[in-house]
Amino acid sequence: MEILKHFTTAFLDAFAFLFALGLMALVIAVCWMYVVDIRQTTHTIRRNYPVLGRFRYLFEYLGEFFRQYFFSQDREELPFNRAQRSWVYRAAKNLDSTVAFGSTLPLNQPGDFLFLNALIPPLDEEVPARTAIVFGEGYARHPHSTYSFFNISAMSYGAISGPAVRALSHGAAKAGLWLNTGEGGISPFHYEGGCDIVFQIGTAKYGVRDSEGQLSDEKLREIAAHEQVRMFEIKLSQGAKPGKGGILPAAKVTRIIASTRGIPEGHDSISPNRHPEIRCINDLLGMIRHVRDVTGKPTGIKFALGESSWLDEFCQRINALGLDHAPDFITLDSADGGTGAAPQSLMDLMGLPLRSSLPLVVDKLLEYGLRQRIRVVCSGKMVNPAGVAAALCTGADCVNSARGFMFALGCIQALQCNKNTCPTGITTHDPDLQRGLDPRDKAVRVASYATNLMHEVEIIAHSCGVPEPRLLDRRHACVINAQGLPVPLSEAYTSPEASKAHDTRATQ
Ligand SMILES: Cc1cc2nc3c(=O)[nH]c(=O)nc-3n(C[C@H](O)[C@H](O)[C@H](O)COP(=O)(O)O)c2cc1C
Repeated sequence: MEILKHFTTAFLDAFAFLFALGLMALVIAVCWMYVVDIRQTTHTIRRNYPVLGRFRYLFEYLGEFFRQYFFSQDREELPFNRAQRSWVYRAAKNLDSTVAFGSTLPLNQPGDFLFLNALIPPLDEEVPARTAIVFGEGYARHPHSTYSFFNISAMSYGAISGPAVRALSHGAAKAGLWLNTGEGGISPFHYEGGCDIVFQIGTAKYGVRDSEGQLSDEKLREIAAHEQVRMFEIKLSQGAKPGKGGILPAAKVTRIIASTRGIPEGHDSISPNRHPEIRCINDLLGMIRHVRDVTGKPTGIKFALGESSWLDEFCQRINALGLDHAPDFITLDSADGGTGAAPQSLMDLMGLPLRSSLPLVVDKLLEYGLRQRIRVVCSGKMVNPAGVAAALCTGADCVNSARGFMFALGCIQALQCNKNTCPTGITTHDPDLQRGLDPRDKAVRVASYATNLMHEVEIIAHSCGVPEPRLLDRRHACVINAQGLPVPLSEAYTSPEASKAHDTRATQ
């Protein structure tokens, strides 16, 4: 009995000793992980949430095995599903972007696109270098030419943070993209990387307003004098909130953002829901011409399409007044576009999605003989190569993305852009949260994402039998109809008026 008691005590002592040792090892390991996590610059979540952030990566990894039993499938999350986001993350990290086993797409959902492969695609060595897309040639004193058909869409400094703008600026320069400033004016962060910049004139004219809030020609000239600023875009509306001005909550209006915009610090920054001086089509065409005359740079307009009968008057007025009144480009935003903050009813239900509006706009330009004159840029959930290729098939010249580049910056779709709490430092001005976003590291990801995406769009184009993406047209894709059957885009979309027109998209 004594021996048993002795043995039990020894066992408990040994157990207590091992437990204490284990606990100490755990504390040391946690401290070590903490130090490693806050010192590394590659993973924002681990830097902002040391040790705890590691569970995200663990669960992400384990999810691949458990998904089939417990969690939603690859294609079920919104607004962007896991398959779409994973593609961006892999492309941004320059990891293998191939997938295994077979497609997880059912290929019978109305509205889905299918590309039509050619019998004899061009060999890699038969493919010529990409041709340039030129904006404003013959109309602006300084036309803009780019080889990039995928660029960074408008996101204002304010909606996104300083480190995010810096990473985008450096990344855009590395990959030869343009960076659109969004409506919040231009900051030193935009210039920092040396990329091409499109300056957006929002309804509040942030960055180009005089003391009364009117468009200032002097400020326009000052901004246009920067060589990096290549084009100007007059924003009429955006897909996530057509008819509503920009909303930047007071918590995000810091001293530097207030001074960039020319507004008071710490107050909500609300811009009007339209340019007060644009009351009709004539006013709009007048403003386009005025901005181009003052700046000498190509000038376009951005809008989301809803009611569309005005397009006829728009095109007719351009033809009546002369092609120098036309915008050098149109940026067409989809109703399902993103934003920092918007009323839910506008975000969910206002405006047309790109699959309806893009063919409509392209066909109107064709019908009125304006397709050569006006470049068509479009945006709206095209974060993967297939979406971009589908837009080019439909008739766009190039594609912009905002949220694709947010994913490249490390966005985890936490849906907190309207607060100041973004866990990845992209849409917050909280310095503690911004600390995790290292602009140097993320700039490489931004560039890799765009480069890999454009490369895969080229693969699609070659598979369809054309040497470059901008030669894709409506013969190269089908859309699934309500019966689940593929119909060629040329049948599904082209209007009778447009099919009679001989004017086509310019490829130079
Ligand atoms: C955080 C954020 C800020 C944005 N800010 C602007 C802006 O200032 N001006 C604008 O025209 N669009 C703005 N947008 C809309 C985008 O430029 C783009 O048109 C839209 O999100 C569709 O592209 P996506 O689906 O690739 O995000 C913003 C979008 C996001 C997500």
